[in-house]
Order: sequence, then C-alpha cells, then structure tokens
Amino acid sequence: MKVELVEIRKYFGPVRANDGISMTVEPGTIHGLLGENGAGKTTLMKCLSGYLRPDGGQILIDGRPVSFTSPAEAIRHGIGMLHQDPLDFPQMRVLDNFLLAFDDRLVPNRREGVRLLRELGHRFHFDLDPDAEVGQLTVGERQQLEILRLLALGAQVIILDEPTTGISAPQKAQLFETLRLLAEEEGRSVIFVSHKLEEVETLCDRVTVLRRGKVAGEAERPFSVDRLVEMMFGRSLPPPTRPPVTLGPPVLEVENLTVPSYRLVVEGVDLEVRAGEVVGLAGLEGSGQRLFMRACAGLERVTAGRIVVDGQDLTGAPYRRFLEAGVAYLPAGRLEEGLIPGLTLTEHFALVDRDGPFFIDWKAARERALERVRHYHIVGRPETTVEALSGGNQQRVLLALLPHGLRLLLLEHPTRGLDVESANWVWQQLLARREEGTAILFISADLDELLERADRIVVFFAGRMMEPLVAERTTVEQLGYLIGGKTTEAQRAQRFSL
Ligand SMILES: Nc1ncnc2c1ncn2[C@@H]1O[C@H](COP(=O)(O)OP(=O)(O)O)[C@@H](O)[C@H]1O
Ligand SMILES: [Mg+2]
Repeated sequence: MKVELVEIRKYFGPVRANDGISMTVEPGTIHGLLGENGAGKTTLMKCLSGYLRPDGGQILIDGRPVSFTSPAEAIRHGIGMLHQDPLDFPQMRVLDNFLLAFDDRLVPNRREGVRLLRELGHRFHFDLDPDAEVGQLTVGERQQLEILRLLALGAQVIILDEPTTGISAPQKAQLFETLRLLAEEEGRSVIFVSHKLEEVETLCDRVTVLRRGKVAGEAERPFSVDRLVEMMFGRSLPPPTRPPVTLGPPVLEVENLTVPSYRLVVEGVDLEVRAGEVVGLAGLEGSGQRLFMRACAGLERVTAGRIVVDGQDLTGAPYRRFLEAGVAYLPAGRLEEGLIPGLTLTEHFALVDRDGPFFIDWKAARERALERVRHYHIVGRPETTVEALSGGNQQRVLLALLPHGLRLLLLEHPTRGLDVESANWVWQQLLARREEGTAILFISADLDELLERADRIVVFFAGRMMEPLVAERTTVEQLGYLIGGKTTEAQRAQRFSL
C-alpha cells in the first residue's frame, strides 16, 4: 500500500506543528521520520492515523484521497499506529487486551483468540503469555502486544512513534528484526519515527527529516550522517555540559513515607536529597512518582512517615508552609495548573511580585515584565496572554516566575514537547540554580534526559521506590528494565564499574 501525505498542515494555536508537510511511503519499505523533539513528527503521524484531524492537506492511499475521523477508521484502511506512551490497559490480561482491539462483530472467542495470539507471536518471535497481567509486562513486551494487535487488525502500514524508548537492547534487536520481516517479506510499510540518528541509519531504507514543522530534506540509504545532522538541526549543536557542583547538607529528608490515592498507594519511600543535587524520578505513568513528588510539596495527604525540609518537619503541613520553606512545584500541565489563562505576562509577574498588599504599580510591573521577557528569551510581549504562547515559551514564563534562592525545586516533565535548543536552555537555567544551593527533583519519561541531567535516578514501580541509581553508572537498558519492573534483567544490564 502506498501512502502519500500532501501539504499536511496542523496548527495548535500559534504553534505550527505541521506546516505543509509532504512525504511518500512506498510499500515494502521502512521509512524513517527523523527530527528533534518538537519537530512535528508525532503530530504528523497522528494526522495519518486518525487521532488528529489535519487543518489542511491531503492523504492519499494508493492514489485515492482518504480522510479519517477516528483511529478505528484509519485501521480499517490498513493504517495503524503504535504510540509513544503505551495506550493499553494495565489492569487487564494480555489476551483481553488483545481481543479488545476487535470490533464487536469480529471478536473471536477466547480459544480462537489464544490461537491467533500464539500464531502471530510465533511468526514474529514474540513470546507473550496470554494470561499475564499487562501491568506486569515490560515496556518492550507491551509494545510487542500492541504490534500483534495492529497486525491482527490487518494493518498494512505500521507507524511506530519513538518505539525504542525504555526497551532493552535485546528487545530493540528483536523489534528491528520484526520490522524488517514485515517490510521485506510481507510487503507492509513501516514508518519508524525517531529522534535518534543511529537507529534510523541502521534500520531505514529512506528517511524524511522534519525541522520546526517542515520537511528539512529527504535521503536514501546509504545515508550521510553529516547531511542528516545538518537537516535535523540546521547546524551542529555542542553537547550539553554540566558544571560540577559540591553538594551541600540535606535539604529534603523523606522517611518511610506513605501517600495513598484511590488508584495507587505509594509506600515505604526513603530518600535524602542534598543542596545542589539533581534527582530524576523515573517510571511508567501512574507508578507513584508524581504522587510522591506532589507529597513533597504538601499537595497530597500523607498517612505515614516524615517529610523534613531543611531540618523542619513539614509532614502534613499545607502547600503554603512548604512555599514558605522555599519549596516550589512546577507542574506538567502548564496552563492547567501553572499559568492562568486570560492573564497577560505583566499580570502574571505582578501577581508574584506585588509591591504592597493592595496596590499594583502597573507601569513598574510592565517594565519588570519586559525585563524578564528579554532575559528569558520569551517570544511574546508583556500584553500577551499566556495561552497565546507556544509550549516552550510557556515553560520559559514558568521559569521566570520562580523566585530565586529556592531550597527545593520540584518539576514535572520540565522539557516535554520542547525542541532540543529550548530543552538545553531550560536545563541551563535549572542547573544554574544549583549553585544557589537549590536541590532539584524532576519527573521525566525521557531516559536520555534522566541519564544526562540527574546525579541520581530513582525508579518507581507500582507505588514502590527502588534503590537510587547513580546516573553515571547506569545504562539506558538497565533503566528500561527497572521501569518495566524487571529487576533481575536490570542487574545484568548494569554497567560494570568499580
Ligand atoms: N495537543 C497539542 N497542543 C498544543 N501544542 C501541541 C500539541 N501537540 C503538539 N504540540 C506542539 O507541536 C509541536 C510539535 O510537536 P510533536 O508533533 O509532538 O513533535 P515531535 O513528535 O517531533 O517531538 C511542539 O511544539 C509541540 O509543543
Ligand atoms: Mg513525538
């Protein structure tokens, strides 16, 4: 099946995620879609697979125009997408999850389902136990399940969005084998979305490179890596550097903490974070890392254990007391929690640095807003309302709103959805705060970010925190296994060091 995307456009407010993108995918090939974070890859693939409606442009299948109003419709036309964040249902068994994909009409009975699952699994060398709980599978195994489900539904074009994040090296080799088999022997098309050059280089026949919502270029095997780098970034970026910092006394001391929620209980967490230290929190979404971090800011009810900030016991204290102690929380949903839609930049800054209890000097406030817009490179004006800003600029505003001299800074996904340059910039700002003695705790789903930016990493799985890892001595495979709850495999993947 041949797929053509013609001049696809998709805007989110002022953000031109896809700004007239064209690409053609030939049957029987593995087509790479390469670009740094924020380039527009996921958006384009969601347009192709029925998760998003494009604002403009056309999709052609074997030369015929189509338009999908839902993913179900796209899969009926043979187009299936495997998402970056697994969209399955962890409380189910593998078989039920597999069967869930079928239309009511087509649902095979359980015996038939088991047979189909085993047959497909056998063909692609995926060994999945139909009775296993999906929640107990590794990221790699969930992905295998999802691929089988798409194949069972007859997908002719299989889109994989950053599929190697969080899977082990053997699982990755296995995945690549499967994708080659699908393309070469079965004549299906694979669209492989990645920001990792070497993956595209080893796997793909052709590649389309996106940059800032546009096609930066195309290439065919054998690839020139230099050309690809140039297309991706426009110029080569220096690797991020980390200034060395001497750690100070403990800022956050957590002892045997229990944080209940209706879905999950975080239990028995012990953690000490020192001044100037950066600790990354890893785990599949809903593993307890967010609940724990919110508790560290007084945003969740704690039923056992202690939270001490700078020697002050704040267990059970409200958010306000944590703020007074120098704790700040930067949420992931920028507009939902951090910023106030409808208010301008000036108004936001005026709210945080009020001159007196009643009066705001608007002229001075505008001046200060302008100063911060310049200092933080915010693309906007003091009069701009926050919802009109792009994600990267909203993140800059949030950073600009944070007071200095904080003791503890808690961040959810500080660079999610940002391009590499903005992400580097955000981290520069954050790391600079370490010199003021601020301790930083952040949640990320990006394993490279965790390994690159954190001093130590703690993995959460099913509400439990595992032994902290020293980032320098941790491999991406090891982290992937731990996130999937596979501790024995993780030990084997540990980097050998003294
Ligand atoms: N639902 C959305 N709402 C607002 N902006 C979005 C949304 N989805 C993506 N974006 C923005 O569109 C741009 C492209 O994002 P995305 O397609 O996810 O890039 P990639 O997958 O290449 O990292 C980014 O600036 C991102 O912040
Ligand atoms: Mg993406």
